[in-house]
Amino acid sequence: MNKRPIGIFDSGVGGTSIWKEIQKLMPYESTIYLADSKNAPYGEKSEERIVELSVKNTEFLIEKGCKLIVVACNTATTNAIALLRERYEVSFIGIEPAIKPAALFSKSKTVGILATKGTLSSSLFSSTSVNHAHGIRILEQEGTGLVPLIEQGQIETKETEVLLKKYLRPMVKEGIDYLVLGCTHYPYLIPVLKKLLPEHVKIIDSGAAVAKQTKAVLERDGLLKNTDKNGRYQFFTNSDVDILRCFLSDVPVPVETAYWSF
Ligand code: DGL
Repeated sequence: MNKRPIGIFDSGVGGTSIWKEIQKLMPYESTIYLADSKNAPYGEKSEERIVELSVKNTEFLIEKGCKLIVVACNTATTNAIALLRERYEVSFIGIEPAIKPAALFSKSKTVGILATKGTLSSSLFSSTSVNHAHGIRILEQEGTGLVPLIEQGQIETKETEVLLKKYLRPMVKEGIDYLVLGCTHYPYLIPVLKKLLPEHVKIIDSGAAVAKQTKAVLERDGLLKNTDKNGRYQFFTNSDVDILRCFLSDVPVPVETAYWSF
């Protein structure tokens, strides 16, 4: 059982930012990554549809024999993880905007969150922000349009910069000193964000924390692989394989990419 792969899914290429953290922390683990790019963005879809797609992705990974599933998507986590945990025996690791550390360290007591509409409107997100942000002003900003641009490989283009400027300006004006990235696609925008934000504004994303939590749960369940050899890294996309490869071009280990469709 412990030789089986870790399954990871996202609405598209964004979750590769989480995969990179997992691979860095546990290079010996084999992984199967599923990018449902054909259905991106999830953030504009109804809760029902997000649940339906998350179930499909989960079943694909379970059929491939995954021992644990990482929902590498804030939108799918906040809308569907409770149901997935109820329905399947395998353990799930999710990702949510890291409000807690930002709220803890903010000096201006004003924190910005950039996330999808689906994440910001979910009840799981509302309860997290209420529980972790006493006395802190949370400024929520929907990142409408960013995921489709990133899915096209548009990172440092004029269009992306124009959208980001529009989204960041009001938060900066209100005095944020932390910007929480609530979507796994957004870490790819960090170079542009750094260019656009004042120097004192810190950017927080949860990728490394998710990798650590994945390792802790595998350890707890006796599922950690016991070898020094690198794992096998497989990637499936139901859209453009070349775009997915672009997001993996900085990876210093061999990866296998393939097309799939439901
Ligand atoms: N990577 C997904 C997330 O973390 C993007 C959601 C979308 O497809 O809109 O929320």
